[in-house]
Amino acid sequence: MSSKTNIIDPKTGKYFLATFGCQMNEYDSNMIGSMLENRGMSMTENADQADVLIVNTCSIRGGAEDRAYARIASMKHYKKMRPEVRIAVIGCMAQNHGEKIPTALEHVDYVVGPDNYRDLESLIFSESTPRQGSGTEVRKVWTEQNDFENYEGLMARLDGSVSAHITIMRGCNKQCAYCIVPNVRGVERSRDLESIVAEVRHAVSEGIHEVCLLGQTVNSYRTEAGNFAALLRKLETVDGLRRIRFMSPHPRHFDTELITAMAECSKVCNQVHLPLQSGSNSMLKKMRRQYTRERYIEIVSELRAAIPNLAITTDIISGFVGETEQDFEDTLSLMREVRFDYSFMFSYSPREGTPAFSEPETLSPQGKQARHERVMELQMQHTEERLDAMLGRREEILIEDRSSRDANEWMGKTRCFKKVIVPHAPGIAKGSFVETRITERRGLVLRGEYLNA
Ligand code: SAH
Ligand code: SF4
Ligand code: F3S
Repeated sequence: MSSKTNIIDPKTGKYFLATFGCQMNEYDSNMIGSMLENRGMSMTENADQADVLIVNTCSIRGGAEDRAYARIASMKHYKKMRPEVRIAVIGCMAQNHGEKIPTALEHVDYVVGPDNYRDLESLIFSESTPRQGSGTEVRKVWTEQNDFENYEGLMARLDGSVSAHITIMRGCNKQCAYCIVPNVRGVERSRDLESIVAEVRHAVSEGIHEVCLLGQTVNSYRTEAGNFAALLRKLETVDGLRRIRFMSPHPRHFDTELITAMAECSKVCNQVHLPLQSGSNSMLKKMRRQYTRERYIEIVSELRAAIPNLAITTDIISGFVGETEQDFEDTLSLMREVRFDYSFMFSYSPREGTPAFSEPETLSPQGKQARHERVMELQMQHTEERLDAMLGRREEILIEDRSSRDANEWMGKTRCFKKVIVPHAPGIAKGSFVETRITERRGLVLRGEYLNA
């Protein structure tokens, strides 16, 4: 069998990409998409038509890895039907598990970590699938960490969403005791400021008016050309851009300079996602979060004083090792004090290779689940309360899409990132900005009427 028969023709080749994990993985998938499209390939949503199948994976919790393995396993039959198809596993779980992946799943051709995506491009267009060599050792894993890889010079493809998510820094220099991200994403590095501005301008030139800046600790962004506050001020000057969001800032780097920049930049939305993790000082210390409960509350007060009608969302972990009933109550009491608009709530999942992994779990699975349910129940009350506080307000909505329930209606988001359903009206389309009055809450969705359409 010739090993040279399977060169992908860039003019006709199709790629399929499945993405797990956070928005930074989404961004990387779009960046790889643009690498492949620059070579002439096109994207397909039908895996059975693809020449290259890529799965971008996440390792943040055990469940995320289980889902990725199941998905990769399910791709075996494409390879059976068309042996020339290439299957690549990329992203954080590729970095985390490396060799284990092709050992467990032989149909995987390439395992490529987050610093090696330039290799992925050359692999895809190389002459043969490595699996077809007989008798010779074939290399399948590319996971060398590169502390300087920022993918300068590349831009992510725009994926049709009305908001462009743009990664401005990669990696993480924190060492939160529960978290796998520093292991798989490497050290923190900030992208060149001008290249970010260029990517934002490009999105605007393609009709996009909202950007969300991404980084694991987005507000520790810093280059010689300026820090995160300076970047916000710079983006404020981009003509045609109307809304700026970012995630996730770290409380340790949330200072008055940033709050002032947020308040003074009219394009920065009145919404912030500020991960808390726990309301207990002893848990925060054990998690190595570098702030206290009191400092977190102080940031929230300063933000609320500076930015009217600010929506605050957060991430909360319950059931971390050593968490007592009192520690958990401290999280609930902080939630009652702050009243988050929404929380992403997680049950602690031990990750091998993290500082907390060696410590035996404090709670049984049922005990963890019980706390998880209590935190969700309290958040639900606050979410409804915060939505009710929107009733009667005048709000600008950016239309995202048709409503999933009723195609005669539209769904959009307020500047504070709340979903609102509005009726159809002449001239309304995806990407439109409309002025509304919020009239009703149905479940977790608000409804609005037009003020000027
Ligand atoms: N860089 C962000 C978090 C990224 S991970 C920050 O520091 O805010 C997203 C969220 O996943 C975290 O905020 C945390 O709440 C959760 N998480 C991370 N590791 C976890 C683990 N081992 N178990 C449960 N939740 C975890
Ligand atoms: Fe993980 Fe902490 Fe870094 Fe966030 S700041 S990515 S939780 S180590
Ligand atoms: Fe998951 Fe990696 Fe993001 S572990 S949460 S995809 S940085």
